[in-house]
Amino acid sequence: MAKNLEITEKLEKYIKNFSLKLNPIQQEIIDYNNTLGDVKRMQVATSQCHFLHLIIKTSNIKRVLEIGTFTGLSALSIALALPDDGKLVALDKDEETNKVALDFFKKANLNNKIQTIVKPALDSLDEFKNSKFDMVFIDADKMNYKEYYERSLKLLDKGGLIIVDNVLWHGEVADEDNLDKYTINIRDFNTYVANDKRVEQIIIPLGDGMTVCRVL
Ligand SMILES: C[S@@+](CC[C@H](N)C(=O)[O-])C[C@H]1O[C@@H](n2cnc3c(N)ncnc32)[C@H](O)[C@@H]1O
Repeated sequence: MAKNLEITEKLEKYIKNFSLKLNPIQQEIIDYNNTLGDVKRMQVATSQCHFLHLIIKTSNIKRVLEIGTFTGLSALSIALALPDDGKLVALDKDEETNKVALDFFKKANLNNKIQTIVKPALDSLDEFKNSKFDMVFIDADKMNYKEYYERSLKLLDKGGLIIVDNVLWHGEVADEDNLDKYTINIRDFNTYVANDKRVEQIIIPLGDGMTVCRVL
């Protein structure tokens, strides 16, 4: 069996050079996040932006819900891939980062395609009872992942997608000696999804690890 690749920084740069190019506003968001210090780790990786792009394009996705927007990198990546009549609803509880994200969306001329809602995501999700989406991207507070997942399932029809970020938790999920409560939480979430007969799912090692679930 071929040995699995270790994605070194050098290889990551190579992959970047030979993949899709970022839109100038995506690059502006990344540059802005780089000025924020440690919180910049919140943003999705470039490879994840490209993955979201490809999956939206190839799956004929029109209505997307995002849980956890921060300064807007994943949201903008999603909106750029959506068709003209597509729509993204983006949830985050942080007013300040939402303002920053809105400025970037305007600059990219995508503010009409993106609706942001600023309040705790569970409150918004409870109000969405009659809405339907084709895809939900979950990337907010990890302790609520199971709640977000269950509520997302109610908003999707058969064939709908749930994509969840940070499911490999810096690789710590596989270290059985790590009993940190956040690691245990992600591990429990991954077990929950793996045992869920309502979906079929794979974990993709992009960024901090993404689960892609398809509703059966
Ligand atoms: C990892 S960041 C999202 C990163 C974003 N997807 C990107 O690509 O830049 C997580 C976000 O979830 C938000 N968040 C945390 N708890 C939340 C909650 N209970 N309701 C709504 N948003 C929440 C935080 O304010 C933060 O902006």
